[in-house]
Amino acid sequence: MACIGADETKYAFDGGRSESLMAKFTLVCSACERTHEPSEKAQRCAVCGEPLLARLDLSEASWPPSPGRWTARFRSFLPFDSIADELTLGEAGTPLVRARSLGKELALRELWFKCEGANPTGSFKDRGTITGLLRVRALGLSHVGTVSTGNMAISVAAYSARMGLRCLVLAGASVPAEKLAPLGLYGANIVRFDGDYGDLYYSSLRLAKDLPVYMVNSDDPFRIEGQKLLFYEIVDQLGRPPDVVLVPVSSGGNLSALLKAVDELLDLRVLSKPPLVVGVQASGCNPVARAFRNGRETVDRVTHPQTIAHAIMNPYPPSGARALRALRRVGGLILDVGDEEILAAQRDLAAKEGIWVQPDSATTLAAIRRLVSDRQVSQGHSVVCVLTGHGFKDAAALGQHALPAAATAGHQELPALFERFAWS
Ligand SMILES: Cc1ncc(COP(=O)(O)O)c(C=O)c1O
Ligand SMILES: [Zn+2]
Repeated sequence: MACIGADETKYAFDGGRSESLMAKFTLVCSACERTHEPSEKAQRCAVCGEPLLARLDLSEASWPPSPGRWTARFRSFLPFDSIADELTLGEAGTPLVRARSLGKELALRELWFKCEGANPTGSFKDRGTITGLLRVRALGLSHVGTVSTGNMAISVAAYSARMGLRCLVLAGASVPAEKLAPLGLYGANIVRFDGDYGDLYYSSLRLAKDLPVYMVNSDDPFRIEGQKLLFYEIVDQLGRPPDVVLVPVSSGGNLSALLKAVDELLDLRVLSKPPLVVGVQASGCNPVARAFRNGRETVDRVTHPQTIAHAIMNPYPPSGARALRALRRVGGLILDVGDEEILAAQRDLAAKEGIWVQPDSATTLAAIRRLVSDRQVSQGHSVVCVLTGHGFKDAAALGQHALPAAATAGHQELPALFERFAWS
């Protein structure tokens, strides 16, 4: 593995660019509001340890956004002066697809799927990776790291290659091999971490602190900035806010990003009231849902996580408490769904809507089914299930389904096979 940080000057990317790249923002703690220097590499509060966020001056921002690529359309909602088109891989602007049959089954007025698998590396992570790495460039650094259950690894490796940055990936032991295989192609350094995955995030921040390495982890303040645009985009594509929006939760980063978007759009009066924001975890690893149910403000570590939804299996989510705070502020909720429900939802999304997602993403359909049957969501509502990652990201999970075997046939058998098929 490459030696990191031996010679600081060697790693300087383009020092002094920060002024020109970053628009005005304040780096504040999401819990105690303490302000941190915008030039600091800090990601968590020096006082209380909770995640920092970038607070922006949105007085110049106007809605609806002007037409064009997201880099221009949403620029006034981001902490960057400009985003060079040559750095993008065509992320964002993903399809919002209306359900054809599952909406009717649930008797919902409108059911939509936000297909984040259409991003360049197949998951929502790309939205936040590009903004996270723009921050790295602005700080004049050339080395990035990430802790990942798979999707973020590929995303950070791809965008690092695009931006000419060196990349270190720390992946949990349960990450399917096919998710990590392409990392080498991108030229990333890979470490399969065999230890407590919940602690890895904190160790990575500690280790990078005094080195010229920036960890673009799941709840980095500048990753959050890109990922929040997911909700901006949904409101824009629908032409109005949805009544209900559901996202899967692991570290709590994406849920926090969505809630930041809700806060900002409320401030801007694009929303007159918050939608019902629903976070979804797997029952086999549900630390945030459990804390929510028990009225707790902090999250306890899950000791033996076990679920088919590997990508959302974070036993000790670093943005768990922050997501709980933000969720309660807007009257949202977080629940968990079992593996059987997840697999049924994954199968139905493919068979009834033509959308193959990874199991983790199918949690949102499983959750809306539960909420409709418990009458927590009424049928007159418009609902958006965020489908965070494409099915090809976890092909191994197909082994969980009883799928028909392929028939074998030579030329002689083909006529009979066609005949049977035609009348089936
Ligand atoms: C497919 C998928 N969905 C959802 C999530 C959850 O995102 P977060 O860790 O920001 O809560 C992840 C995290 O890796 C993921 O890979
Ligand atoms: Zn704090």
